[in-house]
Amino acid sequence: MKMENRIKIAFFDTKPYDKPSFERFGEKYGITFKYYETKLNEDTVELAQGYDGVCAFVNDTVNAAVIDSLADMGVKVLALRCAGFNNVDMKYAFGKIHVLRVPAYSPYAVAEHTMALLLTSIRRIHKAYIRTRDFNFSLSGLTGFDLHGKTVGVIGTGKIGRVFIDICRGFGMKVLAYDKFPAEGLDNGDTVRYVELDELFANSDIISLHCPLNEETHHIINAEALEKCKRGVVILNTSRGALVDAEALLAGIKSRKVGAACLDVYEEESDLFFEDNSGHILEDDTLARLISMPNVIVTSHQAFLTEDALENIAETTVKNIVDFFEKKQCPNELCYRKGTAEDCKDGKCF
Ligand code: NAI
Repeated sequence: MKMENRIKIAFFDTKPYDKPSFERFGEKYGITFKYYETKLNEDTVELAQGYDGVCAFVNDTVNAAVIDSLADMGVKVLALRCAGFNNVDMKYAFGKIHVLRVPAYSPYAVAEHTMALLLTSIRRIHKAYIRTRDFNFSLSGLTGFDLHGKTVGVIGTGKIGRVFIDICRGFGMKVLAYDKFPAEGLDNGDTVRYVELDELFANSDIISLHCPLNEETHHIINAEALEKCKRGVVILNTSRGALVDAEALLAGIKSRKVGAACLDVYEEESDLFFEDNSGHILEDDTLARLISMPNVIVTSHQAFLTEDALENIAETTVKNIVDFFEKKQCPNELCYRKGTAEDCKDGKCF
């Protein structure tokens, strides 16, 4: 394909691990990417001038001002290379720019990372690893607990939540599930039961979040919710940071109400996560205090990061862009026609 006929996409927040798969699929399907390390926001949006579309990730800011600028420049499409779209003002985007996403790339990557965090935390692997490297073979303080027979509360039983439930069942755990739209056939009346949130809070030894971030789920784990939980509850968040009120979580850790927390996401992560800040003074006291706790494990939004997921993300993003420009219709377009964002069913989004 001649260079001038190729679709040109400005790719924001580029990391070294993004390029190989996007280059491969871009080459195959006739897309040229211009990679920018900077995030997309009001200050950087001008870099999209002259491109057919932009490709953005979870911590790019696509607010009203950015959408207006993109629309003014004639940029037709925003291709998200992620599933979540809470960083896009979808209501404002409707009618101005088409928003495509990757609804699923590897629910296994995220669900398996969630279980890895849980096991690391409760079996004290993070402590043991450091000890044995220093030839300290003492077991004091490393006592964990069995997962078998424990109850896990899973909030959000979509693709990732359901894989996580399968993994938990493999460990012999009981599952209490909550979802605004329960999945058919999941509740077996025994080892997996849908319950109301209050019952989930009251009876779960471990709570794992797998719902999207929206107005209803913002701070779904807050002081009031933690009050209703069992003493020693383990909180897992590999979904979106603002599902958890970090101040309330910290207070829960200090009061011993929360037994442990594993966070792959954090409400104020956008200026910190994915970057090496080791030489800097961390301004965020809440995050610094959480990280200092022996029973808190933080990973920096890494749950998605497997070779399989990166491959699927690049392939779907590229196919979305090609579908949009060549077929004028993409099944993974987000549509806000009904007053809430959902996958487009008929290609007539606006
Ligand atoms: P999904 O769309 O398959 O499932 C989400 C589930 O949440 C659905 O069953 C939906 O009905 C439910 N839900 C919606 N509103 C709710 C509410 N108010 N209360 C309770 N449940 C509600 O999404 P998927 O693929 O399972 O992803 C879940 C979340 O995981 C995403 O929204 C994203 O934020 C996060 N994620 C995190 C990654 C990471 O690297 N840490 C990578 C990929 C996704």
